[in-house]
Amino acid sequence: MATTSSTQEANNSRFNAEAAEWDNNKKHVESCQKAFEAIQSYVPAFADGTSKNLDVLEIGCGTGLLSFQLAPHIRSLVGVDTSTGMLDAFNQKIAALPDTTPANLAAVNVLVQDADDVHIQGAAAALATRRGESGHDLPYRFDLIVSHLTLHHIPSLPSIIETMYKCLRPGGWIALTDYEDFGAEAIRFHPVDKREGVERHGVKKAEIEEVVDGVGFNEVRVERAWVMRKEVDAEEGKPKEEMDFPFFIVLGKR
Ligand SMILES: C[S@@+](CC[C@H](N)C(=O)[O-])C[C@H]1O[C@@H](n2cnc3c(N)ncnc32)[C@H](O)[C@@H]1O
Repeated sequence: MATTSSTQEANNSRFNAEAAEWDNNKKHVESCQKAFEAIQSYVPAFADGTSKNLDVLEIGCGTGLLSFQLAPHIRSLVGVDTSTGMLDAFNQKIAALPDTTPANLAAVNVLVQDADDVHIQGAAAALATRRGESGHDLPYRFDLIVSHLTLHHIPSLPSIIETMYKCLRPGGWIALTDYEDFGAEAIRFHPVDKREGVERHGVKKAEIEEVVDGVGFNEVRVERAWVMRKEVDAEEGKPKEEMDFPFFIVLGKR
């Protein structure tokens, strides 16, 4: 089980409450589709045809909107999330998969602070056993870490990026997507009633680049990957209107 702070508790109760309807929000589906396309175009293994060899760790997998798109293109995916409601929705999708092909993905309730976390290790081991593998090098490490719309909820960017580094095999990549903090207006991404538990209103490109570089990643790049137009609520004299929110992908190689 994840340990909780008050910010984390606010996050968990918000996402527990939203979980059942999460996939019915077209903007959630659209942003995960765009994240998937960005990962495919920026991560070398997708371009060179070796993505089926990738063991992937996803931080903040939620209901699995990104995970289930990635799954057919990779070897395995372990998702982690701190909301039991989101994980229940993920697990309902696993249960609905046909029996003919063993699922190559699983999700666990972890606040990732340790690359050797027993839940992550256990999930990776179970997936390896399911695909008939034995005698795997321990502890399990990953070839790719993805995380979509989650960095803005995590209190310390240096800590999570350092933990990600430790979770990777040498030569492994991070490919993380979130919306940019492009200035004061970025706060409008979340309606007022969803702002509790939001650690930062988007992520500054320069800040995430410095953190990823500082942790020791190579080939660090932060690119504007797409722009999502969405309706925002009226507030402080500003009307309900449509706004463009830029999204970045940050890449780094261990
Ligand atoms: C905005 S949702 C995005 C979910 C999913 N990636 C998607 O785009 O549909 C953020 C997710 O991050 C999870 N989360 C928040 N803080 C987290 C943390 N410290 N570690 C892991 N997951 C976290 C939440 O429970 C939630 O499922």
